[in-house]
Amino acid sequence: MTLNIALLGFGTVAQGVPFLLNENKEKIEQAIGTNVEISKILVLESSKERLEKQFDHNFVTKIEDVVDDTEIDIVIELIGRIEPAKTYITKALKSGKHVVTANKDLLATHGQELISIAQANNVSLYYEAAVAGGIPILRTLANSLNSDKITKVLGIVNGTSNFMMTKMVDEGWSYEEALKTAQELGFAESDPTNDVDGIDAAYKMVILSQFAFGMNINVDQVSKTGIRNISPEDVEMAAKLGYVIKLVGSIEEVESGLFAQVSPVFIPKGHALASVNNEMNAVYVESIGIGESMYYGPGAGQRPTATSVVADIINIGKEIQVEIPAHPFNQFKRETVLANPDDIKSKYYFALEVPDKNGQILKLSEIYNDTEISFAQVFQQGSNGSTARVVIITHEMTQKQLHEVTEKIENVPEFKLLNSFKVLGA
Ligand SMILES: NC(=O)c1ccc[n+]([C@@H]2O[C@H](COP(=O)([O-])OP(=O)(O)OC[C@H]3O[C@@H](n4cnc5c(N)ncnc54)[C@H](OP(=O)(O)O)[C@@H]3O)[C@@H](O)[C@H]2O)c1
Repeated sequence: MTLNIALLGFGTVAQGVPFLLNENKEKIEQAIGTNVEISKILVLESSKERLEKQFDHNFVTKIEDVVDDTEIDIVIELIGRIEPAKTYITKALKSGKHVVTANKDLLATHGQELISIAQANNVSLYYEAAVAGGIPILRTLANSLNSDKITKVLGIVNGTSNFMMTKMVDEGWSYEEALKTAQELGFAESDPTNDVDGIDAAYKMVILSQFAFGMNINVDQVSKTGIRNISPEDVEMAAKLGYVIKLVGSIEEVESGLFAQVSPVFIPKGHALASVNNEMNAVYVESIGIGESMYYGPGAGQRPTATSVVADIINIGKEIQVEIPAHPFNQFKRETVLANPDDIKSKYYFALEVPDKNGQILKLSEIYNDTEISFAQVFQQGSNGSTARVVIITHEMTQKQLHEVTEKIENVPEFKLLNSFKVLGA
């Protein structure tokens, strides 16, 4: 019996699938116990002729050609975004086809609905490539780490913003220079919002929360700050103090519940995440069993992402062969409870612009004291004669204190809060 698959879309990732199925044919066939055939590829009418000239595949343009074909076992959605991907996946699941996708936007926003449809139709929905592309993090969390209790997940899961931050840190480039180069190299889209504002990373935090903590948070419940406002002065001060700045997604469970955030973070240079550079990704897991572990690799790209897609195909293929009933990719599920902001503690970096005259640090320390925040370090980082830049590193404070002190600073007309970032480490 042949395992028949259909691809929806034939772009960057999809074109990596036939490559791997050919190059790794022997191993894949041994793993599944049968050969894999790409029966059909759904493409846009406007692209069909061009693709037919280039590739020897059976290209079709109507989703019915795929979902009504009883020979097709697995549908691989690689179109991206919400529609028509959602409608196509729904139709495929309802036609009794297993589905593989790499679509984090869709899974983070409509994943539960699609998972329910898959369960109702007794088919599998797998999406290893949706988080950190080539890193097999979801299956690791679902299979190998199911014996462990996870307390915290930190992730550098957006290659575009990590490439930009690496250039800003290593080469001293401005945000604008880093973005321009990322766009020229094809790492950043012309509208970079999802990458630089932390939205893409937040989608991945939603999915990671389900696998690591069994909780289903909404993407709006992930607090998001992007990298647009990071200045060369912030980067320079971080370096001076022994840190690098990176866009980090974090999920932690405290007694009151779960807290998920995407924000720039000061990472100590000796921390494993500090060495995750350029477009590479990493997911750092703290747990009661293993302790600390990090999963590192390419978060995007044709071959890495297609490798995760093909791994899903193999897993479904094996399950079909041995007639294992379909089951959800992630089986860990419990009540979703969000943390009390009073319980989420971190050290913080503050950069402020204050009048360049005596008494300003005292005035600032009174504001922080009022909010019961103590300074670990205070520096003056330059002056233009009329205003000085002041940098403060605090001891641990809560999210609530952060909001309170931010509001108090903003109420002092002569003070300007330029930036405030989390500082990792005890
Ligand atoms: N690229 C990566 O490294 C990466 C990493 C992780 C996850 N992903 C995810 O993988 C998915 C695919 O990404 P990609 O980078 O391969 O995107 P891509 O290169 O833009 O490919 C998408 C393809 O879908 C086709 N398409 C658009 N609408 C269609 C429709 N209605 N019917 C059939 N085909 C349609 C497009 O055709 P035309 O070219 O003819 O417009 C395009 O070739 C996305 O969900 C993405 O988030 C990608």
